[in-house]
This record gives sequence, C-alpha cells and structure tokens, in this order.
Amino acid sequence: MTQIGIDAIGISVPHAYLDLADLAQARGVPPSKYVEGLGVRRMAVAAPWEDAVALAANASRRLFATTGADPGQVGLCVVGTETAVDHSKPIAAWLHRLVGLPQRARSYEAKHACFGGTAGLLTAMDWIASGSAHERTALVVCTDIARYPLRSAGEPTQGAGAVALLVSARPRLLALEPGLSGSYTAEVNDFWRPLHRKDAVVDGHHSVACYLDALGGAYMAWKDACAASDVHGDLGRRIYHVPYGKMARKAHRHSRMLDGLAETEADATFAREVATSLAFPAEVGNVYTGSLYLALASLLHHEAAALEGQRIGLFSYGSGCVAEYFAGRVVSGAGSVAAQLRLDAPLASRRRCTVSEYESIRALDADADSRPLGQHEARDGEVAFAGVEGERRIYVG
Ligand SMILES: CC(C)(COP(=O)(O)OP(=O)(O)OC[C@H]1O[C@@H](n2cnc3c(N)ncnc32)[C@H](O)[C@@H]1OP(=O)(O)O)[C@@H](O)C(=O)NCCC(=O)NCCS
Repeated sequence: MTQIGIDAIGISVPHAYLDLADLAQARGVPPSKYVEGLGVRRMAVAAPWEDAVALAANASRRLFATTGADPGQVGLCVVGTETAVDHSKPIAAWLHRLVGLPQRARSYEAKHACFGGTAGLLTAMDWIASGSAHERTALVVCTDIARYPLRSAGEPTQGAGAVALLVSARPRLLALEPGLSGSYTAEVNDFWRPLHRKDAVVDGHHSVACYLDALGGAYMAWKDACAASDVHGDLGRRIYHVPYGKMARKAHRHSRMLDGLAETEADATFAREVATSLAFPAEVGNVYTGSLYLALASLLHHEAAALEGQRIGLFSYGSGCVAEYFAGRVVSGAGSVAAQLRLDAPLASRRRCTVSEYESIRALDADADSRPLGQHEARDGEVAFAGVEGERRIYVG
C-alpha cells in the first residue's frame, strides 16, 4: 500500500478563552453540567479580527515555521470551513497569498458542515495516489468559529480555531490508508446556518442521534471495506469528531458496542483508547471542521512516541449529514516530529476573559464584517482581519 498521510500539523486559536465554570455561574447552571455533563472546560473566544481567514493563515504559518517545510512545494490547497467570510471568494484565495503558496497550485474551499476538512484530506490523498501531485505536497486547512445564540443550550459548546495539515507521500506523523474508508450520507435537519445568520441553528438532541447513526453506518462500512481488502488489526487509539467531549465518549461506547462489547466493557476502554485525544478540545471547545484534527493533535502531542507503529481510527461527521470512518498508522519517528511541532504552545499563551468581555465581543458580531479599515487590532507577526475598504476585506500581518 502506498504511504500517503499527514506529515505535519499547525494549530491556531484565538487569544482569549472563557472558563466554562464562569459561564455556568453567569447562566445559573451548576458548573458540573458543563464540565462533567458535557465534558468541556474552556472555550476559545474569537475577536472580530481573529476571523476564519486569519486563523487559517496563522495555523499554516505555524506549520511551516515549526517544520521548515517549504510552502513552495504545495500543489493543492483545500480549506474546509462552514464559517467562511464571503459567499464567493474562498478563504483559500487569501490564504494562498498570506502563506506564500506557489501560483501553480490549485486552491479552493470545501463545505459540508464539520466535514469540509475531511473532504479536503480525502481529496488530497486521492490527488497524491493518482500521481497528479508530482512530488508536491497538499495543504489542508480546517478553520471555523463555532457560534450558537447566547443563553442557548449550544452556548457552552462553542469555540474557535484552525488546524493545518500538510499531506505528503512521505508522512512523518500518520500514514493513512488510501481507498480504505467507510462513508455514510443521509439528509437530516440536525444543524444548519441560514445565509443571513452568524450563529447556527441546532436541534441539539436530534444532532446527537444523527451523529451516532452516521457513526454506526460509516464504522460498519469501514469494517466491511477492511474485511474485503484483507486488512486486519486492532486500533490502538480511536479519535472522533468532538463538538464537546461527552459526544466522543458516547461515540466510543457506540462503536465499541458495535464490536460486540457490553456497555461496561466498552466504557472501560475509553481511558486508554480516547482520553488523551480530548485534552486539546477541552481547552478550545468546538472548532467544527478542525475538531477531529485537534483531537489528533492532542493524541500525537501526548502519545506519539508510545504509539509509533500503532493503528489509529478516525471518525469525521458533518451535520446535514455525511460521515467517514478511516484509519492510519503512526509512523516510526513521529514522537520526535510531534515534539518539534510544539502543538500545545498556542494553547499556553492565552488570556482568560470574563463573561462580560465575551458578551461584548459577541455584540461586535453584527457589524464586524463591515467595520472600516483600521478599527481592528493586529498582533506582531500574526495575520489579522483589519477591516473593510471599498467592500474589500483587508488582512494585515
Ligand atoms: C449537546 C446539547 C444538546 C446538550 O444540551 P442540554 O439539553 O442543555 O443538555 P442535557 O440536559 O442533555 O445535559 C447534557 C449532559 O449533562 C448531564 N448533566 C446535566 N446536569 C448535570 C450536572 N449538574 N452534573 C453533571 N452532569 C449533568 C446530563 O445528564 C447529560 O448527560 P448525558 O448526555 O450523558 O445524558 C447542547 O449543548 C447542544 O445543542 N450543543 C450543540 C450541538 C452539538 O454539539 N451536537 C453534537 C452532534 S454534532
């Protein structure tokens, strides 16, 4: 089987976060409901200048800076997002300039709720497997700002961030398995965002049921594909799309019970097979397209060295809905590559904001996309959305 997979990862998150115990107190809810009931601790709060373009550019720049990989070698760039900033111009167009990708690269945006990044990753794998890459790499960037209305049930499951993945024929982190995956699609009304809205509409409990149905369908299709290709072997770790930590716990129980385990046996495998992947998501919250890959970053940051040679299962879900189950093997030497990436660094340099600061930032949402140039803040060395000039979005940094 050809070796194609994830060579490097870069993360970017907003500079402010809200402690969910603070939000619980402000909303008159016991903190244990958020922390234990939903499995969330902190959520990233994006300022207007930390939009999906800026987060994507900063994650990609960080990837190239920490690895020394050459942006000039990228031949395909796909940005997965469901919180794009324009109905026509893709984030990939701004990203192309801000990261210095070559003119002879193909770049575009992909949307299907939280699945857009996985769509990009699967396309990148096929692009390399087909021979179209001609030794070049692919950059797949997942970038989103998860917003639900204030005081809604979804409010504690917000977040924001971007995860950039460099995909190559010589992956140094995770070798994926081209052609070996399980897909699932069904039209459902679990979560959507009409064109006039910045925050999502969600039928929360129904979305949990849709996620689990999709997981069952994709997982069984993947198992059938493995059996048909005579590919066998245990999964050492299993990672899931993480809208909130508890969802991954429910997903794990569901998939392990499909393996024939009793509920208590399935739950007993959670700490070993899933827990370390949820550390970063618990710090950031839901990042929609990037959630599965933030979980992957968390797993590799904590355990890459110990997992070298082991197979990892990945489950991606996009409301509406589509899902994919696939797997990859942690590459020999991944431990030192993960250490070099310092994947936890962006999480360490953040500021805790108060509930009233968070609410003031949300109040800016209404006109954030039309504020004139110069009204937004910029930070040294980082890309920021600087405002609008003649209907054009201007990025600095
Ligand atoms: C997930 C969501 C539906 C939960 O909404 P909710 O109705 O406020 O929450 P619930 O009442 O179901 O409580 C959530 C959990 O906390 C538990 N809980 C409630 N109060 C608690 C407390 N004081 N201490 C500990 N746990 C508590 C509940 O038992 C429940 O656990 P369970 O899911 O294992 O049954 C809501 O946050 C949402 O809509 N999120 C956005 C959509 C989403 O992320 N969907 C996921 C699929 S894509």
